Amino acid sequence: MRCAMAVAASLRLCFSSLSSSSGHRHRLPSALYLTAAYRRNAKAAHDAFHAPDWKCSRRGMVAASGADAAGSSGVIKIAAISGSLRRASFHAGMIRAAIEIAKENIPDVEIEVLKIGDLPFVNTDLEVDGRFPEVVERFRAKVLQADSILFACPEYNYSMSAVFKNSIDWASRAPNVWAEKPAAIMSAGGNFGGGRSSYHLRQSGVFCDLRFINKPEVFVRAFEPPAKFDADGNLIDSATKDRIKDLLFSLRSWTLRLKSCS
Ligand SMILES: Cc1cc2nc3c(=O)[nH]c(=O)nc-3n(C[C@H](O)[C@H](O)[C@H](O)COP(=O)(O)O)c2cc1C
Repeated sequence: MRCAMAVAASLRLCFSSLSSSSGHRHRLPSALYLTAAYRRNAKAAHDAFHAPDWKCSRRGMVAASGADAAGSSGVIKIAAISGSLRRASFHAGMIRAAIEIAKENIPDVEIEVLKIGDLPFVNTDLEVDGRFPEVVERFRAKVLQADSILFACPEYNYSMSAVFKNSIDWASRAPNVWAEKPAAIMSAGGNFGGGRSSYHLRQSGVFCDLRFINKPEVFVRAFEPPAKFDADGNLIDSATKDRIKDLLFSLRSWTLRLKSCS
């Protein structure tokens, strides 16, 4: 009984401190609402979160029009990075599929591919008078201009590929251009579908202040039937395309939500 009273008292304390802090009070109803919705029905929670876009207001998280939250152009610019240099790369193929999916289904999203194969290995000796090599400057500028990032992250020996990590490291040099970027990951590989590399990327993203969506997770078991890719690395599996579509919608929502709060 005493324990229950203590919990009730601490909850009251918690609620009163939230009420006295105007910066946080408004978040409580949405957080409770989402938690309850997840318990009731995962699909309902997904719809509640993704159907409208959200913006911060004194009344809490409220629906926003896409154009309103995305800025005057109303276009969300996504920079896509593949961590494989292979000609018939599955990851490059997934990015091509994402571009097609966005064109057909999400008119306010534009995806631009950022190349990383010509970046030199990170070496801080190459930073001269506060400038990076030209190719690095260009890459960093593209990251900075993007509204959000779509990573296609291969798994090499249970982690990210070296060329991919190199790009993460260059853009993290001060000023860190990953900071506060909304981001999503898709991976293809063996039995875990590249999941381990994706989690390593999330770990690096903590220090880089990347803001990843948590779900959906797109881990493609590339070597199991049915075939997911053709000989040129084009994605041919409709179920995987549907998952990438969900990923893009989720990234779009998250981008609008973070933009409206910044
Ligand atoms: C050096 C190397 C290490 C790899 N290690 C793994 C691994 O740990 N786990 C895995 O699922 N696949 C591994 N693979 C297989 C890759 O996931 C597979 O080649 C994949 O197609 C790479 O992506 P890409 O098609 O975009 O090049 C490895 C491939 C290479 C070249």
